[in-house]
Amino acid sequence: MKKTLLLALVAMVSFASFANGQKESGKIVIGANIYSFADNFMNGVVKPELESYAKTKGVEIQIVDSEGQQAKLNDQVDVFITKGVNVLAINLVDPAAAQTIINKARAAKIPLILFNKEATEPGAMASYDKVWYVGTDSAEAGVIQGKMMVSDWKKNPAWDKNGDGTVQYVMLKGEPGHPDAEARTVESVKAFRDAGINVEQLALEADPNWSTVHGNDKMAAWLTSSFGSKIELVICNNDGMAFGAITALKAAGVKLPIYGVDALDQAITHIADGEMNGTVLNDGKNQARATVDLAVNAAMGKNVTEGTNWKVQTNGTKAVRVAYIGVTAANYMEYKK
Ligand code: BGC
Ligand code: CA
Repeated sequence: MKKTLLLALVAMVSFASFANGQKESGKIVIGANIYSFADNFMNGVVKPELESYAKTKGVEIQIVDSEGQQAKLNDQVDVFITKGVNVLAINLVDPAAAQTIINKARAAKIPLILFNKEATEPGAMASYDKVWYVGTDSAEAGVIQGKMMVSDWKKNPAWDKNGDGTVQYVMLKGEPGHPDAEARTVESVKAFRDAGINVEQLALEADPNWSTVHGNDKMAAWLTSSFGSKIELVICNNDGMAFGAITALKAAGVKLPIYGVDALDQAITHIADGEMNGTVLNDGKNQARATVDLAVNAAMGKNVTEGTNWKVQTNGTKAVRVAYIGVTAANYMEYKK
């Protein structure tokens, strides 16, 4: 009996020192995730910058793959908390599940930076004084993409294949319920209406994974559908899906104007080659840097923007929003690596 008690005590003490060990070593540890390592933008742009920027700051960042499963992320957060990380940097799988993560961080008294997927539950951000968001103004990408398309449409009368003055378009939307996907879907098309140009949506497809494979499959199916020959414009809410659509267009020997969002390296190459008409730079590098900067300051109990140029919005969203920039054939050289 005594022995059991002793063993239990030893276990408790060593667990406690393990839990606090990272804090005691003096090095700040950020417990982070990416909602899916299969995402072109998150895995190709944001993750490498989180890692390299954390290194320059002298902090440790542990990044796990949530594999597109919110339940998995919930468990990963529990593990980070048990391990005693100093701060959490979380890329939600489900933007409507922020409150669960916020509750966990609050209970453990650990600051939390959400990034890339903004919480959609009303009141979630206000429920904890140590949660902030780093991302973009979701609508801005759609506004910029829309203006770009309107201007090109006006310059290219031949794009109106049936000459009816209306844009017959198809849209690859991305993840339903994701604030970026929802806002881009509305704003890009609104730009045409605002310019007095009629639009007709021939098809719209959502894809929770924003993926190239899905973009390819959908575009291929649309091209062989009853409305295939009517398509005049392809709007993609991210580059990843656009890459797949471009492959499908090429395979079918069809050339259509096509636009994306993110300005991934491959998109710049497609623009250079005349295979893509435009994209919008989603500045993942600076989003990653802001995430790390805020996380480190929060872990040290400082004002989150101390010593940085980031601005936290005071309108209740507690968000740092990194600006988007339009990229077309006219300026892609500036973004070429
Ligand atoms: C990006 C997409 C990405 C998504 C992931 C968006 O901001 O534009 O490419 O798939 O974030 O949440
Ligand atoms: Ca038309």
